[in-house]
Amino acid sequence: MGTVPGYAVPVSTFPVTRLRRLRRTDALRGLVRETRLSLDDFVMPLFVGREPLANHDLPGLARHSVDTAATEGQELASLGVGAVLLFGIPEEKDAQGSGAWDDDGIVQRALRAIRTSAPGLVLLTDVCLCEYTSHGHCGVLAGEEVDNDETLELLARTAVSHAEAGADAVAPSDMMDGRVAAIRTALDEADLGATPILAYSAKYASAFYGPFRDAAESTPAFGDRRGYQMDPANVREALRECELDVAEGADMLMVKPALPCLDVIRAVRERFDLPLAAYNVSGEYAMLKTAGAKGLLDERQAALESLTAIKRAGADVVISYWTKDLARWL
Ligand code: PBG
Repeated sequence: MGTVPGYAVPVSTFPVTRLRRLRRTDALRGLVRETRLSLDDFVMPLFVGREPLANHDLPGLARHSVDTAATEGQELASLGVGAVLLFGIPEEKDAQGSGAWDDDGIVQRALRAIRTSAPGLVLLTDVCLCEYTSHGHCGVLAGEEVDNDETLELLARTAVSHAEAGADAVAPSDMMDGRVAAIRTALDEADLGATPILAYSAKYASAFYGPFRDAAESTPAFGDRRGYQMDPANVREALRECELDVAEGADMLMVKPALPCLDVIRAVRERFDLPLAAYNVSGEYAMLKTAGAKGLLDERQAALESLTAIKRAGADVVISYWTKDLARWL
């Protein structure tokens, strides 16, 4: 035991202080736990598209028809899940991705169906063109490059169409410059001023989106997304992305992927007061699912630990393919 100079009070160290005392029982550990998982903070992604494709290895990435999406929405709501994030895989793709803003498109129909089957569920939509373009890039092309400014108008149209079909919030994931402002303006002009924007502000060009691209059929036909998504080496740039999105009118920010970016989540949390989401992406899910199936680790424990780490890093909201499982685990 040492003492602080000038004070009679002893500073306790080992053996007086023993941190293991509060780890002795489940009840004590529960009492002093700093981070807790609550289903209220979780969002389940849902894929809706042609030829329902059950992905047995990765049940969270199963593809639904409009009808089964409606049933799934109802089931999720009855399990206590509060929100879903919708992705659409259209019947036909073209160079512009016109299926994205078709008022009778796959996401628009799913929104109406789920609104009826599960009226209280929060319906978020991913706003991007990559699932709808024949070339798989997130915007329209000018030669081999994605044309930023030409894409903005199409994203805005898509967001308006989603909101008109009943989306509670729209989430642009394309990483074009200026998309939040373009979407905010278009929503306001369409009398949809009450629809919030959840901006995928710091979205990195990540290898962890692989399983998603299979499920959503959105792998780029050539090249990659590094010309618009962020370089995983950068964190200051993530803060600039967030700053711009806040200035353009974002209501919530997002960091994606989650586990490789816990430091980015922490940095954004410390700098901004907006609600912050983190996307626990398909590759993060697939890794643990696969390792669990091989008996290398306990999937449930590993998933709970990962999701807790994402919350501990500072995320308010977590988008995760484990959300449905979590409803049973918690
Ligand atoms: C669409 C989009 C992607 C993801 C979410 N929205 C794919 C991509 O950017 O290539 C990835 C989600 C996941 O991997 O779970 N742009």
